[in-house]
Amino acid sequence: MPDPSWQVREVTAAETAELRRQVLRGGRPVELPGDADPAFHVGVFDGDKLVGTGNVRVDPAPWAPGAPAWRLRGMATAPSHRGQGVGAVVLDALMAQARAHGGGLLWCNARTPARTFYERAGLVTRGEPWVDPEIGPHVVMWRDL
Ligand SMILES: CC(C)(COP(=O)(O)OP(=O)(O)OC[C@H]1O[C@@H](n2cnc3c(N)ncnc32)[C@H](O)[C@@H]1OP(=O)(O)O)[C@@H](O)C(=O)NCCC(=O)NCCS
Repeated sequence: MPDPSWQVREVTAAETAELRRQVLRGGRPVELPGDADPAFHVGVFDGDKLVGTGNVRVDPAPWAPGAPAWRLRGMATAPSHRGQGVGAVVLDALMAQARAHGGGLLWCNARTPARTFYERAGLVTRGEPWVDPEIGPHVVMWRDL
């Protein structure tokens, strides 16, 4: 269950970059893909501490170029706060934003260890998994909004 004291709000990409680098890039000071383009970023705060984030942007799914769609990226929960509902709160806020701005479908290139997390939110896999040499195994997941 999410803690009622957590704050959930829109944030900038820059505000969440450090958490995303720590969680998704092993702390390496790399550029984060997609950050130069417009996107809606959400942060969950426990007091002053950012403990979870994720973002969505209008971006057609590769298999349905003409359909309204939102790409989900950068889902990251601080290790201290995993399994407490932070990721679900982030994903709910991102889906609400996408629905409020036209909806369509939601898709992502999911890291396979996160597959169950996305399945809990109603996403299903599509196609075969593949391995990103720097990051590991991925699979496309999606759902209607
Ligand atoms: C994936 C991630 C964002 C999930 O965040 P979280 O805050 O721990 O997720 P929640 O606590 O909100 O979990 C929501 C649901 O997913 C389930 N879940 C979350 N992570 C899971 C996992 N690794 N395995 C199985 N189930 C998981 C929870 O049990 C919960 O299920 P419920 O609806 O039955 O209660 C987090 O584990 C993370 O940052 N992982 C490392 C980075 C990563 O892989 N990001 C995704 C890149 S595509």
